[in-house]
Amino acid sequence: PDVMGVAALAEKIRKVPDWPKKGILFHDITPVLQSPEYFRLLVDLMVYRYMGQKIDVVAGLDARGFIIGAALAYQLNVGFVPIRKKGKLPFDTLSQSYALEYGEATVEIHTDAIQQGARVLLVDDLVATGGTMQAGVELIRKLGGEVVEAAAILEFTDLPGGKNMREKGVPLFTLYQND
Ligand code: PRP
Ligand code: MG
Repeated sequence: PDVMGVAALAEKIRKVPDWPKKGILFHDITPVLQSPEYFRLLVDLMVYRYMGQKIDVVAGLDARGFIIGAALAYQLNVGFVPIRKKGKLPFDTLSQSYALEYGEATVEIHTDAIQQGARVLLVDDLVATGGTMQAGVELIRKLGGEVVEAAAILEFTDLPGGKNMREKGVPLFTLYQND
């Protein structure tokens, strides 16, 4: 498109019906990532929001939050901290479990990844139930970090995840909302 903005970005995300199971409309960001123009648009939209703000470190959620978060950290000239799925980090870790539709999942962070009082920008691709993002927030806060904002491309407003997070005092920013 001639004018590249959030609407163009939203359009570029591929919607795959019934994946990984029936009834789920999967939002696939790979078309954005594989396009030089759209990948830059995505990162720049985030960079413009946070440049000039005091951010000490960007934390990204495994796995899609790594891609956006690492590019953002590089542009903001700060370090990057991965919050990984259970069993992937080699050093001392702090764990946080969260509910899935069936069962639960766990994410982990290295205990030395966040300094006391650090201002942390947490990044993922999207917020559905909010379980993943909320778990990331818990880990950062338990290590004494301050979550400046939890940022994602997209938030599904037909699920209460984003609303619940804001009500609990988590500053959540999403580039666009979808129901
Ligand atoms: C997806 C997505 C978010 C999360 C959102 O990740 O990338 O991280 O789900 O869902 P929630 O708000 O209900 O927690 P997924 O766990 O599928 O893993 P991936 O990023 O490694 O593909
Ligand atoms: Mg994910």
